[in-house]
Amino acid sequence: MKLRETKDGSHTLHNPEMDVFYHSVHGAWAETQHVFGAMGLEEACARRPEGPIHILEVGLGTGLNVLDAWVRAKSANRLVVVRSLEPKPLSWSDVAPLGHAALAEVPEEVLRNIVAGHHVDGQMDFTRVDAGVMDAALEEGWADVVYFDAFAPAAQPELWTVPVMDRMRWALKPGGQLVTYCAKGDVRRTMEEAGFLVDRIPGPPGKREMLRATKVARPQGRFNVRAYMVVVQEGKVLVSYERLPMGGVMKFPGGGVEWGEGPAAAIRREALEELGQSVMVDALLHVSQKAHISSFDENQQVLAIHHLARFDGPVRFEDDGMLEDVFGKGVPMMDQKLGWRDVHTLQPQDFHFASDREAWEAWQKSQAAG
Ligand SMILES: C[S@@+](CC[C@H](N)C(=O)[O-])C[C@H]1O[C@@H](n2cnc3c(N)ncnc32)[C@H](O)[C@@H]1O
Repeated sequence: MKLRETKDGSHTLHNPEMDVFYHSVHGAWAETQHVFGAMGLEEACARRPEGPIHILEVGLGTGLNVLDAWVRAKSANRLVVVRSLEPKPLSWSDVAPLGHAALAEVPEEVLRNIVAGHHVDGQMDFTRVDAGVMDAALEEGWADVVYFDAFAPAAQPELWTVPVMDRMRWALKPGGQLVTYCAKGDVRRTMEEAGFLVDRIPGPPGKREMLRATKVARPQGRFNVRAYMVVVQEGKVLVSYERLPMGGVMKFPGGGVEWGEGPAAAIRREALEELGQSVMVDALLHVSQKAHISSFDENQQVLAIHHLARFDGPVRFEDDGMLEDVFGKGVPMMDQKLGWRDVHTLQPQDFHFASDREAWEAWQKSQAAG
C-alpha cells in the first residue's frame, strides 16, 4: 500500500481496491484528534465524569483513532473499553511505515497490539471485531460514543444508510453520541431518519464542518399527539392563521387529541370548537415521520395525524377569504382567522409547523401520483 504525507505532516495510506485514503489528506493526525478525540471521547468523558468509557469504532484501519484514545485515556487516567470493527484488518507491515506511534509519542508496542487486535494494557480494554457493521454482534445501549470512520459515502455508500444508522443508535447509550468526519446533507438526513438529533459542528483543518449525532435522552419527555384536518374543495385548502407569541403562524385547523378520543373524534371536536360546525373525517393523509420537537416546549415531541376532511353542508364559520396577504397584518394576539389558500400556490414552507409542512408535502405527492 502506498503512503502519502498529509498537510499536517502525518501520513496516511492509500487503499488501492477502493481508491481511497484511510484519513483526510488535509491532516490525518489533525482529523483523528479533532473529530474522534476532542469531539467524541472528550465529550463522552465530560458527559460521564466517572467510570469507564465505551467506544465503538466502525473501521479500525491503521488504528490511529484508537491510539489517540489510548493517549487521552492515559492523560485523564480513565479506563476506555474499545470495540473496533474491521472486516479487512491491516497488517503491521502496512501500518508501521506510517510512523504513527512516534508521532503520538507512544511506545510502538501499544500500536502494534491495537493493529493485531491484542489486549493493550490496563488503560485500554481493546477488542478488534473482524466483522462489518451489519454483521458484527453489537449490544444494545453499550457505547458512550461511536467513532463512525467508514470510507466516504462515495466509496462505500452501503455504510451510510438508515439500517446502519439504526444499528448505531441501538448500540449507543441514551445520551450517547456518534461522531464522523463527514458533513454531507444526505448523511445528516439519513441520521435524522434513524432518530438521531444531528448537529453540524466545526470540522478539522481543511473541512468546515463535521457531524455529531445524539441519541436523545429525555426521561421527562412526553408525546403530544395532535390531529389536523386537511379540507380541500374547489381547488382551495382551508388554513388557519393565528398570531401566537412567536409571531404569525399558518397551520391546518385542529389540535391536541384528548384522552379517550381517537384522531377522527378529535378532529370533529376541533371543528366544532374552531369552525363552529361539523366536518366529516375521511382518509388518513399523513402521520409525522420525523421527530418534531414542540416549538413551545422542548420536552414535548409532536406526533401529528393529518386526515382529509370535508363539510357536509355550506361553510358556516366566519370565512376570512383568501389568506394570501394576512402575514404581518395587525391580527390581535391569539386571534384566529380561517380562510383558504390556492392548492397550486400553497407551498409546504408556507406552514409554520414542520409537521404541517410534512403533511402538505404528502398531499402534493398524493396528487402527483394521481
Ligand atoms: C477511513 S478507514 C478507517 C481509518 C481508521 N479509523 C484509522 O484510524 O486509521 C475505513 C475503514 O473501514 C473499514 N470497513 C470497510 N467496510 C466496513 C464495514 N462494513 N464495517 C466496518 N468497517 C468497515 C475499512 O476496511 C477501513 O479500514
